[in-house]
Amino acid sequence: MNILIVGSGAREHALAWKIRQSPRVENLFAAPGNAGTAFIAQNLSIDTGDFQALSRATQEHAIDLTVVGPEIPLANGIADYFQEHSLPIFGPTKAAAKIEASKVFAKELMMKYGIPTAMARIFTSYTDAKRYVELSPLPLVVKADGLAAGKGVTVAKTREEALEALSECMEKKVFGESGERVLIEECLQGQEVSVFAFTDGENLSSIVAACDYKRAWDGDRGPNTGGMGSYSPPGFWSMELEERILKEIMEPVIAAMAKEGAPFQGVLYGGLMITREGPKVIEFNARLGDPETQVIIPRLKSDPVEVMLSVLSGKLRKTPLEWSNEASVGVVIASGGYPGSYGRGYPIQGLDTLEEEVLVFHAGTKLALDTTSGKTRIVSDGGRVVTVVALGEALAEARERVYSNIGSIHFQDSFYRKDIAEGVTWS
Ligand code: AMP
Ligand code: GLY
Repeated sequence: MNILIVGSGAREHALAWKIRQSPRVENLFAAPGNAGTAFIAQNLSIDTGDFQALSRATQEHAIDLTVVGPEIPLANGIADYFQEHSLPIFGPTKAAAKIEASKVFAKELMMKYGIPTAMARIFTSYTDAKRYVELSPLPLVVKADGLAAGKGVTVAKTREEALEALSECMEKKVFGESGERVLIEECLQGQEVSVFAFTDGENLSSIVAACDYKRAWDGDRGPNTGGMGSYSPPGFWSMELEERILKEIMEPVIAAMAKEGAPFQGVLYGGLMITREGPKVIEFNARLGDPETQVIIPRLKSDPVEVMLSVLSGKLRKTPLEWSNEASVGVVIASGGYPGSYGRGYPIQGLDTLEEEVLVFHAGTKLALDTTSGKTRIVSDGGRVVTVVALGEALAEARERVYSNIGSIHFQDSFYRKDIAEGVTWS
């Protein structure tokens, strides 16, 4: 088979790396990809939003399956476009991706079907929302309805913070249309976990879980980012918890989406809080997580192509998803300044000096010609630049392997968190 991966992050590089190992795969393409995918696939310089050019490329290269990584093309209907042109694609339709693209839609769905989630009120009027904030107990969570590149959520400890977040959304409209409607939620307490299940719209695979570190700096300080590191499985993960999440959250939501006429096919990502009363939903995403994918994919024992094909044919039940018992840790190296502004084009050194078992998944990297030597080299080209990943029998071993190697990779102003998977009880 010939396969096309849409996206350019470390999530997509990890997918490409795993898909490349499938005996079913002949040619692999990435659009637009990065310097990492360039070594294992052919990069096509096509924007992830240009559905026409992507579908033309699938014809030109005889692509049998397109796999979509990021949320924006899904929310904009890439799957619908491909399906209309009879092109096989792995990823939910626009109607199904609404579970991520509209937090109001997701919340109303959960409330209607009794799926455990944070209590919330939905507002379209700034005055009403403001009055509610003034009367409610703290902390409060203020959320823009639509996609906001991970910046639309404020966990407010003070009324001033909550009012500021409201004003940003509804008065200053910093998220545009995404902030026209706002949710104000109770703040859940507990252990946060990302869970992933493949689904064909009716059947679900087993769940794999990972923890993500969203803040930029050590000790969970600093601004929110796309994610600075991850590990899998969490120390508290168990068969009982997996079963409970399947029965109370994942299965009911998949059944609800089908009932609402928007069956969900692809990977459902539950952002959950394990509270004292049990698991509750913080949010759903319509795709794999980044950086969670970089730590879960190396634990995948099944052939991802088989799994994706069985999702497309509605026969997921026949293709069990198997995960190794090993622990996996991933640490992101980012450009100084990220998630704010940062420089690009800095040569990355040391990528070829790591122990063989250590994996490096590229994100913001590209190949550039060095005019002095005449050679191509890998330079930084984004906020999150690479994710360094290692497996181990135990979490501490995986962690040690990542941190004893990561220091060899350098570029100007680079930084990474030193506390990923630190102090985690793991058995
Ligand atoms: P994101 O939407 O990925 O930017 O996530 C924002 C983060 O805010 C989540 O990962 C949680 O840590 C936190 N968060 C969002 N909603 C709640 C909630 N209802 N209670 C507690 N924390 C929340
Ligand atoms: N790791 C967070 C996300 O992928 O949305």
